[in-house]
Parts: sequence; C-alpha cells; structure tokens
Amino acid sequence: MRKICIIGTGYVGLVTGSCYAHLGHKVICVDNNADKIRILKAGGVPIYEPGLEKLVKENVKAKRISFSTDIAYGVKNSEIILIAVSTPPKIDGKVDLSFVEKVARQVAEVMDSYKVIVDKSTVPVQTGEKVAETIKRYNKHKIDFDIASLPEFLREGTAISDFLNPDRIVIGVSSSRAEKILKEIHEKIKAPVIVTDIKSAELIKHAANSFLATKISFANALANICELSGADISLVTKGMGMDKRIGEQYLRAGLGYGGSCFPKDVAGFIQIAKELGYDFNLLREVERINRQQRKIFLKKIEDTLWVLKEKTVGILGLAFKPNTDDMRNAPSIDIIQNLIKEGAKIKAYDPVAEKKAKEILGDSKITYCKDPYEVAKGSEALVIVTEWDEFKKLDLERIAKLLIHPIIIDGRNIFDPKKMEKLGFVYKSVGR
Ligand code: UGA
Repeated sequence: MRKICIIGTGYVGLVTGSCYAHLGHKVICVDNNADKIRILKAGGVPIYEPGLEKLVKENVKAKRISFSTDIAYGVKNSEIILIAVSTPPKIDGKVDLSFVEKVARQVAEVMDSYKVIVDKSTVPVQTGEKVAETIKRYNKHKIDFDIASLPEFLREGTAISDFLNPDRIVIGVSSSRAEKILKEIHEKIKAPVIVTDIKSAELIKHAANSFLATKISFANALANICELSGADISLVTKGMGMDKRIGEQYLRAGLGYGGSCFPKDVAGFIQIAKELGYDFNLLREVERINRQQRKIFLKKIEDTLWVLKEKTVGILGLAFKPNTDDMRNAPSIDIIQNLIKEGAKIKAYDPVAEKKAKEILGDSKITYCKDPYEVAKGSEALVIVTEWDEFKKLDLERIAKLLIHPIIIDGRNIFDPKKMEKLGFVYKSVGR
C-alpha cells in the first residue's frame, strides 16, 4: 500500500484516484473547487462515467479514498503526488500550463518529506524539467524529491476498465527510486510496463492521441473517396484493419473526432513541434479533414431537405460520443447551430447529455425530448449524431410512421443501408 495524493478531481483525477484506491492504496483527492469536494464528500460524483460512482462509494466505505480542498493536507500525508489538473488550450492552440505551474509551487511550499511528483495531465514535452525547476525554486527546506511522468490513456465512457486493463503502462522517470515506487503502485495491473525518460513519456501521450486522430481523419478522407467512387467505407476499413500492421480500431468514419482530448492534443502538438522548430504539417491536414467532415455532413442534410427554413429536424445524440455526458467539441454543437442559422427548428434527444447541452446550446431554440420517438414525431428527418446503443435498437417501423417523411441522415453509420431501403427509408450515411 502506498499513500497517493491526486491534485485535480476532473475525469482523469477522479477515475485515477478511485482506481488506485481500488488497487488497495490510500488516496487523497484534492481540488480547489469546494463544490466538487462537497459533492464527493456527500457520496456523489460530479461527472458521468459508468461505474465511477459505485467505485468511489466502495472505496470511501473502505476508507481508502478521501477528499479535501487542502493541498497541504494531501501532500503531507502522501508520498506520491499526482498532478491531474486541466491543461486547457489557449486561443492559438498552445497548452495553458498555468494550473500545473501553480500546483507545482504549492506542492513545493508545503512538502515536508521525500515525494515523487508525477505529471498525470497531458503536458508538452519538457514540462517535467520546468516542474522540477519550479519545485527546486520554491522548496525552501531543500526536501528531496523526484519528478516523473505517467501519461494516461483513459477514454471517457470506459475509463475504469481502461485504467485497470491498459495496453501498457508508461512510466517516465529519472531516478531508480521513483521507478521502483511507480512500478510498485501498478503491481496488481496485468499489463506490460515501459520505463522511459521523462521527455519520452511526455511525448508518447501527444504522439498516441495525434496518431489516433490521424487514423480517424484518414478514414474520413477515404469515406469521401468512397462516396465519389461508389465504394463502401465500412468494407474498405475492415479490409485495411485486418492487416495487423494497421489494426481495425479508430478507422470508423463519420463526423470526425471531438471531445476534450483529440482536438486539444492535435492542436497542442502542432504548437509544441513548431516551438521546437519542426512544422508538423501532417497534423494540420488531420485537423482540416476533421473540420471539413462536419461541413460535408451539413451539406448532406441540406441536399436532402433542400430549404431548411421552418423545417423541423430531429437530432439523436448530443454528447461527443456514447456513454458520456461530455459536450466539449461535440459535432452536435456545430451541426445544430448551423441548422438553426438556416432557420430549421430542432428537436433533440440524448440519454445523458441534455443538461450539459442546455448550458452550451440553450433551450430557447431547441425542444429537448424524452426519447427518440418523441423526436421523430413531426420531424421532417432524423439526424444521427452520436452512436448510442439505444439508437441501434430503435423500432424503425415506428420511427418511419412518426416522421413526416421517412428520412434518416446518419453521421455514424449505425444502420445497414440495404435494410433501411427495404424499410422504405431515404437513408444517407457516411462513405457508403
Ligand atoms: C482519447 C484517447 O482515446 C484516450 O486514450 C486518451 O487517454 C484520452 O483521449 C485523453 O487524452 O484523455 P476520448 O477523447 O475519451 O479518449 O475518446 P475516444 O473514445 O478516443 O474518441 C475520441 C473521438 O474520436 C470521439 O469523438 C469519437 O467519436 C471519435 N472516433 C473514435 C471516431 O470518429 N472514429 C473512430 O474510429 C474512433
């Protein structure tokens, strides 16, 4: 058992904290947002992540996890300090490291014994060096410490199983003492461990996310070629993906990538490379294809419905992907705002993201519905934006009767075009 303090209780911090507690460690989660800590202390969870509430409750009960707004308390009572605060993008795409810097200072000022200070947030290569310098500067009592990097590869919606069953654990260290401690806290996880220097670990994270985004943009570019040539993107990516060197994952064409990670990390990596003196043009193209994909989809809606003014369009799915309520960089935002600009009326449904969607899109111009059938009723067409399982199981005959016209425009390719045609739908999807 090791004592771990996690600073920042966002998606990453809270999942990581409860998983370490689940593995038997003693965890203190610290956040300066008193509201969040109040919710957590009262047994709630401020975000939607399948299985998280249960895991937090179990570990609170077992006294393995606790919550505090007091960074000094967390640091003094732990040997391993994980920095998991947000690293948001600035307007120019650069990574804002002000929260990381502030936490590094605060940790340095209060630490009273040896600590391993770990960067868990996604940070530019060489941030570890800066954190080390900062800690040295503010560490008045010259307490011994090590810096490390433990990049995370958690996906929202499957974060807990991603943590407990990862493809690999990356440990970036510069001392064998830190290496031993960080290996030990992951002992119970059956996964290959790769130990690297800190800079390489930092780079692995940006490289992995950017490469996955590149795969998605590649698939979307191919989808456009499929539409122009009459081929079927799902078969093309299946055939490509069966080659082990390519792999089948992250080749699903559709509305492009969204969320809080890929858009931010690709933009961030372009800036990081630029500052180092390398022009990562390949990633600019990845971004361009991603933006273009939403525009092409909007054109598909307009081509199908022609004039949108006064027409009711039904939207299924608002979150940026299924199994999350996260609306950050969700394609639904662009699509709905553009449809409203063209004068369309919007009915929308999402199993969990309605509350967050209202904060971004408002509720004056959108009728939020309680299920997909209410959306379909009186709509000219249904537009599928997020591939929730619930939508894959829709009673399509009922949907066809409820719609003014049996039209479905599917941004996620969840139905079989032949089956849809048989059911009498005008069915448009991506790249098929
Ligand atoms: C992503 C990475 O997958 C995680 O490994 C990483 O830890 C995380 O970012 C992070 O940096 O914190 P996440 O953003 O939660 O995780 O979501 P993904 O499931 O990877 O999906 C990202 C986006 O790509 C979504 O918009 C999804 O719809 C899209 N996508 C994914 C596709 O368009 N096609 C695909 O084939 C796969």
